[in-house]
Amino acid sequence: MMKIMVIHGPNLNLLGTRETDIYGSLKLKEINNSLKVLAKELGVNISIYQSNHEGEIVDLIQNAGDYSAIIINPAAYTHTSIAIRDAIAAVKTPAIEVHLSNIYSREKFRHKSVIAPVALGQISGFGPEGYMLALRAAAHISNAKKNRPKKKTS
Ligand code: DQA
Repeated sequence: MMKIMVIHGPNLNLLGTRETDIYGSLKLKEINNSLKVLAKELGVNISIYQSNHEGEIVDLIQNAGDYSAIIINPAAYTHTSIAIRDAIAAVKTPAIEVHLSNIYSREKFRHKSVIAPVALGQISGFGPEGYMLALRAAAHISNAKKNRPKKKTS
């Protein structure tokens, strides 16, 4: 079964109480439960992690070798972490970047993502639904890869 890794970055453990006007009232646990339900529906295996520590996130990415895709909300590290960017660039596993809020409609310092250039794609501004869209995209691209013919037939 196809494996997908989900990584939630710093402060996302506080969802549900943290700046609810921006991030909504759903707790991380509730988002994770919805992800697990959708994963079952899509027939994929997901492993979900949350970390407030940059190096720990780097370690997770480095160990994602046997996963088909990484779904990552790097949170504040989106705007600063060359280490996380380099880890994504270093592994073959494609990464999908997710943000609950629309980072481009907020403070200027959030407009720049150092992750985006090494991500397969970015989903920003759809709240928790963004994770579901990312999971669908991850399952889709992984399937497409799996079913791709090895040799050109024409
Ligand atoms: C965030 C946006 C980041 O700018 C912020 O630092 C976060 C959450 C989002 O999901 O909207 O912690 O990644």
